Amino acid sequence: MEKIQLPPQPPEVTLPVVIAGSLIHRRENYMTLGAFGIMSLQPPIVYISSMKSHYSNEGIRETGFFSVNIPPAELVQKADFCGLVSGRDVDKSGIFTTFYGNERSAPMIEECPINFVCRVIRTVDLPYNEVFIGEVIEYYASTECLDDDKPDPDKINPMVLAGPSYRSLGPAAGVAFGEGRAYRARLKRERSG
Ligand SMILES: Cc1cc2nc3c(=O)[nH]c(=O)nc-3n(C[C@H](O)[C@H](O)[C@H](O)COP(=O)(O)O)c2cc1C
Repeated sequence: MEKIQLPPQPPEVTLPVVIAGSLIHRRENYMTLGAFGIMSLQPPIVYISSMKSHYSNEGIRETGFFSVNIPPAELVQKADFCGLVSGRDVDKSGIFTTFYGNERSAPMIEECPINFVCRVIRTVDLPYNEVFIGEVIEYYASTECLDDDKPDPDKINPMVLAGPSYRSLGPAAGVAFGEGRAYRARLKRERSG
């Protein structure tokens, strides 16, 4: 494939779409994020990167907790809205049905099939963003989205941000750790034969 060099910036082609929940002056606030990722499975550590000017940051700094909620594609309008308006200007607390786990500072969204509570263990200060690194201390899943007690991506129906549009998952492209094994076996055959 022929390549051209583009200006150095992260490509926004496959961003996960999550909604972070926080409590600010005792009011729930929800903000949509593409900058979310898993840093470690054991212990379970994730990060969110949020611009310092966002209202949510005030709450996360104040309480030391945030939630991460994975919205299904059916919530696309509400998710986009939470990424469009600030809780500083508009009360976003009533957009979803809020529930709490044991930690009372991390509001979660009932309509989202996957929710987890994070305790901030470190904050990375970037020029315009704060990266909140959080240990996952509580994890909730809607029972109807489980298959053998494991979250089923088809039932969850998450979204990714691909360029200007939100997309749902397409059909499976392969089996994790299976396709590589098949390729390894093929290589071995080719190299020995
Ligand atoms: C799809 C989408 C993804 C977004 N991703 C991020 C992100 O990763 N980091 C960020 O700081 N803002 C992101 N935003 C913007 C914030 O969600 C938006 O500014 C929001 O209004 C902040 O809310 P708050 O001021 O109530 O905290 C995103 C917005 C959308 C629509």
